[in-house]
Amino acid sequence: MSDPAPFDIQKITVPISATDLAKYKELRLTSLLKDPQFFGSNYKREAAFSEQDWRYRLDSTNKATFIVKESNDKWIGTLTVLAPSSDLDLAPLLGLGVFGNNINRNIYIMVGLWVDSAFRSKGLGQRLIQQALSWAREHIPYENNDSAKIAILEVHRSNIAGKVVYQKCGFRVIPKAESGEDGTEWMIKDLDS
Ligand SMILES: CC(C)(COP(=O)(O)OP(=O)(O)OC[C@H]1O[C@@H](n2cnc3c(N)ncnc32)[C@H](O)[C@@H]1OP(=O)(O)O)[C@@H](O)C(=O)NCCC(=O)NCCS
Repeated sequence: MSDPAPFDIQKITVPISATDLAKYKELRLTSLLKDPQFFGSNYKREAAFSEQDWRYRLDSTNKATFIVKESNDKWIGTLTVLAPSSDLDLAPLLGLGVFGNNINRNIYIMVGLWVDSAFRSKGLGQRLIQQALSWAREHIPYENNDSAKIAILEVHRSNIAGKVVYQKCGFRVIPKAESGEDGTEWMIKDLDS
């Protein structure tokens, strides 16, 4: 891993400012344009989002979005973590065997990881994940229960860099989880150990 000094990783402050919203929108749409094969969503869908849609995505205490800032203040990477919440519907995942014995745990879902290709292999992906995991460990679930916490994510089987970076952060493939869609698998990490 090379010197991470020129880069700053921050959580987007909520309620999000108009400036940050515009920067995040540009960053996210760029990620969908440049690397469409690694995401469940797509550019056409999100380019049509209203400002209200973007605010719904970002303005919540049950989600945290982290961004990487380059020294000139340009945003070049991002990752969002979704906390357990009443408006996060996990039912579609239940039939996939994703949770195994973890159904009663507090489940945090990592989505939208992306680092601009000009800045890859500098440890930024791992730094984003570590900050998101720290936030999840500190986060108080909406039911405020003391169940154990796990983090999960879906990754395309062909996405070697994605799988490597998550493995380096302690995630492992869930052996029996059936793919949520063709060519994907689920990874899991226990947040309490
Ligand atoms: C996945 C992604 C975020 C990683 O970002 P990054 O900033 O390059 O990540 P890091 O530098 O922290 O770590 C990447 C590691 O993977 C390794 N790696 C990258 N490609 C690899 C490959 N084909 N085979 C083996 N290792 C590979 C790098 O060498 C590096 O390891 P190192 O720390 O030992 O040098 C970036 O590649 C990306 O944005 N990809 C497109 C979007 C995507 O796939 N998102 C994930 C969806 S689940």
